[in-house]
Amino acid sequence: MKKFQLGQSRENVINLFPEKAIRRVKLGEKEIGIVRIGEIFFAFDSLCPHRGASLIQGSINGYEEIICPLHQYRFDLKTGALHSGSCSDLEVYQTNLTDEGLIIQLNSGN
Ligand code: FES
Repeated sequence: MKKFQLGQSRENVINLFPEKAIRRVKLGEKEIGIVRIGEIFFAFDSLCPHRGASLIQGSINGYEEIICPLHQYRFDLKTGALHSGSCSDLEVYQTNLTDEGLIIQLNSGN
C-alpha cells in the first residue's frame, strides 16, 4: 500500500480541483484520474478497462458515474462498478480529505 498526499490543506486541495473537472495526476509510476464532487474526491485508473481509452477525457454525470469517451460505458466513481457496458470494473483508489491535504492510497502492486 502506497500513500500519496496532494496539496497542503483542505482549502488548498479543493481549489486545486475545480468541481467535476477530471484531472490527470501522476503518483510515482502510476497515472490516475481525480475528480471532486463537493468535498468528495474520487480517484481512479486513468485508462478504461474496456479498450484502454483515456478516462481523463471522460465526463461525469449526476449519478457519481464516469462515462468513457470512446464507447460511453459508465462506471461508479465510488466503487468502480460497471453500470453500463460489458467489461471488468474500473479500478478505484481510496481518498481521504484531511486538514493536511488529500491522501490517496494506491493498492500494493500498482
Ligand atoms: S474504451 Fe472505454 S468504453 Fe470502450
